[in-house]
Amino acid sequence: MCGIVGYIGPKSVSSVLLVGLQKLEYRGYDSAGIAIMDKSELSIQKNKGKIAGLVDIVNKRPMPGNLGIGHTRWATHGEPSKVNSHPHTNSSGTIAVVQNGIVENYMELKNELMDDGFIFSSETDTEVIPHLFEKYLKENFRPEVAFLRVLKRIEGKFAIALVSEKVPEKIFFAKNGAPLILAIGKDEDNQQKENFLASDLPALVPLAKKAYYLKDKECGFISQGTVVLSDFEGNLKEPNFEKILMKSDDIEKGEFEHYMLKEIYEQPDMIERILSHRINENKHIIFNELKLERDYLARIGRIVIQASGTSLHAGYNGKNFFEQFVKVFADADYSSEFRYRNPVVAGDSMVIAISQSGETADTLASLHEAKSKFIKVLSFVNNMNSTMARESDAVIDLLAGPEIGVASTKAYTAELLNLFLFALYLSSIKWILPKEDRIQLLDEIYTLPEKMRKILRNHERLKEIGAFLNTVNDTIFLGRTYNFPTALEGALKLKEISYIHASGYAGGEFKHGPIALVSEKVPVIAIVPQSEIRTKMISNIQEVKARNGKIISIITEGDQEVKDLSDYYFEIPPVAEPLSPLLTILPLQLISYYTALYRGCDVDQPRNLAKSVTVE
Ligand code: G6P
Repeated sequence: MCGIVGYIGPKSVSSVLLVGLQKLEYRGYDSAGIAIMDKSELSIQKNKGKIAGLVDIVNKRPMPGNLGIGHTRWATHGEPSKVNSHPHTNSSGTIAVVQNGIVENYMELKNELMDDGFIFSSETDTEVIPHLFEKYLKENFRPEVAFLRVLKRIEGKFAIALVSEKVPEKIFFAKNGAPLILAIGKDEDNQQKENFLASDLPALVPLAKKAYYLKDKECGFISQGTVVLSDFEGNLKEPNFEKILMKSDDIEKGEFEHYMLKEIYEQPDMIERILSHRINENKHIIFNELKLERDYLARIGRIVIQASGTSLHAGYNGKNFFEQFVKVFADADYSSEFRYRNPVVAGDSMVIAISQSGETADTLASLHEAKSKFIKVLSFVNNMNSTMARESDAVIDLLAGPEIGVASTKAYTAELLNLFLFALYLSSIKWILPKEDRIQLLDEIYTLPEKMRKILRNHERLKEIGAFLNTVNDTIFLGRTYNFPTALEGALKLKEISYIHASGYAGGEFKHGPIALVSEKVPVIAIVPQSEIRTKMISNIQEVKARNGKIISIITEGDQEVKDLSDYYFEIPPVAEPLSPLLTILPLQLISYYTALYRGCDVDQPRNLAKSVTVE
C-alpha cells in the first residue's frame, strides 16, 4: 500500500529510484513520482498510472542529482491524478514529501495552515507535511528540529521521507505504523557512501548490502555515508544493520510471464523446503523460532484466528485443523471485525494472526486488541522483520519466500501447511492424536509436492475452462468442510484478477438462497475431491443440473460419476481429506490466471488492489 524509496550515492539517482519503485509496484500503482535534489535545487516529475509512464518521462527529460525520494501510490485521499500524486510540495516547490499511510488529523492541520495563508493544491492528507515543515522553518527552527515538530503534530500510521532545499544534503525519514527500512550500499565499509530508504526489501536488492528495519516512532536523516537515527523526541539511537539475505532471483520473474504464474509454479518446491525445515529425521515436527513454553501450549483451551483476505481463508482451515487434531475450540474471524467487536477471549485463549506481509493494518489492530486483553498472540508471517513479527508474543515463519504477485498464491498454501503442521505439533504436546495417526499424516504430506507437480503438468485443460469463464459475468464456487475455504479462496482469486463476479459458499448453504442465481450463464465451480461428504456435494451438483446450470468440477482422479455430471472437470490425485485444500486450490489459481489472460487483465497488478494494505 504505497511504496517509498530514497537514495543518496554516486549512482544515477533517478535510475536507482525508478528501479526501486518498480520493485515496489505491488504496493500500489495509481501514480508514481520522484523528487531529485541537484546540488541545492529540487526537481519533481510525477505521473498518473504505472511507473513505466514515469520512466518514459524521465528518459525524455533526464533528472541529474545527488539524492532523491520516490513514491508509488495506492490512492486513499483524493482520486488517482497527477495533482494528487506524490511527492507533494510546499507552494514554492522547495520541500518535497512522500508518504505511505494516512495523516488522520490532516483536515484540522490543513485548516490551520490555510488560516496561516498556506495554499494547497491537492486533495491529499500528505500535503500538510511540506507546508507544516515550511511553517516551522519560517519560525526559525533548524530543519532537524522542524522535522521533529512536524512529527509531533501529525497523527496516524505513516512512513515518510522528506527533502528540502534548505538542507540539500539530507533526506529526512520517519516511521510510525507503516514499514520503512534504512540500508547501506554493497561495499563492506560503505566507502561509496551509499544510503537507501525503502518500504520493503525488494527495492533494495541487489544494490544494498545491510538493512535496518525502523521501529515505530523512529526518525532521523541520511546524508552521504551517514545515518542519524533518533526517537520522535530527538534522543539519538544506534541502528543495528543486518545483512540482507534476499537474493535477486527471489524477486525476478525469470522465465515466467507473470509473478503470479511463477509463484503458482513454485509451490511444490516451496512445500518441500518447508517440510525440510519443519520435520526432522525422527519425524518430529519442529518450530525452532517458536518462543512459547510447552506448558503454556498444553494449557491452551481456545484458539482465535484472525486475518484478512487470502490469509483468512487459510485461517478457516486452521480452525478445522485445530478442532480436528487438537480438539480445542477454534474460531476464525475477519481482523477488521474482531478488533471492533470487543470480543470475549478467556484466559486460556491464544490468538493466532495470519498475514503474508505482516503489515496488514486490520490484522495488526486485532493483534493490539488481543494484547490489550492480555491474550498471547502467535503470528504466522512471511516476513520475520515485519511489524507483526516484532509485536507478537511468538512468531512462525511461513517460509514461502517473497511473494510479489498481488493475488496471493504460494503464501496461501504455505499458510495451510504451517497451520496443519502446527496443529499436529500442538496435538502431540497435548497428547491428543495417536502417534501412528500423526506419522501417517506426515507420510501423506510428503506426497504433496509430486501431486502438485502432476496438477501443474496438466494445466492445458485449465486453459479451456478459462476460455469458457471468459464468456460469463457471474460464478458460484461451492465446497464443503475443508474445501469450503477453497471455494472462498477460488472465488476471491477469480474476482481479484479477472473482475468476474464470484461468490464462494458452503455447499450446504447453497439451497438457502444462492441457488436462485443459477442459470446457464451463472456456472457453478464445485470442489468435490474424495471425502466423507462427497455425496452431499453431488447432491448440490444435481440441484444445479436440474436448473440447467453449468458445472465445472474439481474431482479426484477417476471419479466417473462427477465427470458425467460436469460440463468441464479437472482431476487431482487422491489425497487425505484434510490435506486436499493444498491441492484443490492449484487448479483454481490457474483457472483464474488463464481467465484473466483471456480477458486481457493485468494479472500481477489488478485494478484497485494493493498487496499490503496498511490502512484500515
Ligand atoms: C490485501 C491483498 C490480499 C491479501 C490481504 C491480506 O487485501 O490484496 O491478497 O490476502 O491483503 O494480506 P496479508 O499480508 O495480511 O496476508
